[in-house]
Amino acid sequence: MLETINRLILPQVSSTFAADVDGLFTFINVASAIILLGITVAIIYFSIKYRRKSEDDVTPVIRYNTTLELTWTIVPFILILIVFGWGFRGYIDMRTPPSNAYEIYVTANSFFWQFTYPNGVQTTDELYVPAGRPVKLIMQSRDVIHSFFVPDFRVKQDVLPGRYTMAWFQTLGTGEHIIFCTEYCGTGHSQMDAMVYAIEPEEFDAWLREQRELSEQELPLAVLGRNLYQQQGCAGCHSLDGSPGIGPTFQGLYMNERQFTNGTTRIADAEYLRESIVNPAALINVGYNNIMPSYAHLSDDQVAALIEFIKEIE
Ligand code: CUA
Repeated sequence: MLETINRLILPQVSSTFAADVDGLFTFINVASAIILLGITVAIIYFSIKYRRKSEDDVTPVIRYNTTLELTWTIVPFILILIVFGWGFRGYIDMRTPPSNAYEIYVTANSFFWQFTYPNGVQTTDELYVPAGRPVKLIMQSRDVIHSFFVPDFRVKQDVLPGRYTMAWFQTLGTGEHIIFCTEYCGTGHSQMDAMVYAIEPEEFDAWLREQRELSEQELPLAVLGRNLYQQQGCAGCHSLDGSPGIGPTFQGLYMNERQFTNGTTRIADAEYLRESIVNPAALINVGYNNIMPSYAHLSDDQVAALIEFIKEIE
């Protein structure tokens, strides 16, 4: 019965500690409901039973009742101890990753997630993990505070600039689960979602090798640029098909005349694109906000690759 209600109101149970979290949640809810019901019934019953029946009804003076006082002190105290003990045990579980956990670095950016695997492979907004194995996330933000939340895993952890925070989980099997940013971080907060793909461990190893080989191949600049467009999170704000986004679309951008909030205009040539990547705050397109972080950390080759890619989006 409780299990059925939980399934209706809670996300699916997909990690080893999710069921325990739900158990505590249900215990608190049921205990609260029983107490609420008991108090409500008592209030109604007493107000009818002891209502003033005639003009000369006198309220008796009751100073104390030891049995009652002890009951309503000890019962809630026991309930609180249960909730504390249960919660503390769950907290310890969540803060203690097994020593054999597979480690993945997570970088939060406005407004996308980057995942870096031990062999150097990087993905954006797609987290692949080996199903049924403990996975430890070592997380950091490149700008403001974000928060990493996978409802199906009951995992939620703030991600801060300038320091690591940690989360871990072990899935119960293969599956796809949504990741939310759950700390309001700016205009693109609502679009800062990603996916976890829990796949069979053998499949995961093969995927990782394949990604490694792909990244070692020499690629034409424009193809490299397309990969960067995905990996660096450009896709979160700049569409390729003219549809409106947080930033201007890349469609037809190259050699197009741009209007800026300082009243000037300029043709979007390669130099303009380079500047907009490295120092985006310098010129803001009319109709947009100054929210893009600098991409000065990209190498010259990477910037060139992005420009070659943008040139091709007509
Ligand atoms: Cu990142 Cu909200």
